[in-house]
Amino acid sequence: MRKPFIAGNWKMYKTAAQAVEFAEEFKKIYKASDVRVAIAAPFTQLWALKKAFEGTGIGVAAQNMHWEDQGAFTGEISAPMLKEIGVDYVIIGHSERREYFGETDETVNKKVLKALAEGILPILCCGESLAVREAGKEKEFVGGQIRADFAGVSAEDAKKVTVAYEPIWAIGTGKTATPDQAQEMCAYIRSVLEELYGDDISEEIAIQYGGSVKPANASELMSQDDIDGALVGGASLKPADFLEIVHF
Ligand code: 13P
Repeated sequence: MRKPFIAGNWKMYKTAAQAVEFAEEFKKIYKASDVRVAIAAPFTQLWALKKAFEGTGIGVAAQNMHWEDQGAFTGEISAPMLKEIGVDYVIIGHSERREYFGETDETVNKKVLKALAEGILPILCCGESLAVREAGKEKEFVGGQIRADFAGVSAEDAKKVTVAYEPIWAIGTGKTATPDQAQEMCAYIRSVLEELYGDDISEEIAIQYGGSVKPANASELMSQDDIDGALVGGASLKPADFLEIVHF
């Protein structure tokens, strides 16, 4: 059985002090359950957040990383740097990184391989734009992303990857995919993973839905067969809202 996995993606919000304030408030109301929980925060908050969540079981995630250990890559952060401070997960290939920072399936794949090699669990994002969906090509597009982004990932390692299906047209727009639309795509992603790794492995891989997930729509999305959790943007910024989603 796959364990539900709810991750908050704070994007470029909050200072370190505000992150700790969130953590302190969240810890007061959070009750550990069989739901896996993590917060993906900007780099400058990860150290403080890791300490603030100590002993709670709540994971900490980076929102990006470079695929090399070190080098002349001004402004970048490497996997060993994240590992040193105990970062558990890393979001890779978020559509905002693909759109604004030139990430391609090739760089996404390098990062996935590197994270796995360092023992940081990747949350690999995929998802189509509105134009792709209107052209009826969403499966072809997302299937292509999955095949390219998993290139060279062994079956044993594939189980450690969480896939986050985030249709770009639903991110920050308030326009959530319907549970049926989200389920259809997550089931399709699982079928591509089955092609790549077989039935047993594909059944173990967690697939999250992301895009305007809110307390009001979380439980219906989560009840779909192939949706194992959520990657939550805006609604993860307030402890009470995020908690409602975690306790869907
Ligand atoms: P919103 O929940 O704000 O739509 O963001 C989704 C997202 O991009 C999470 O990574």
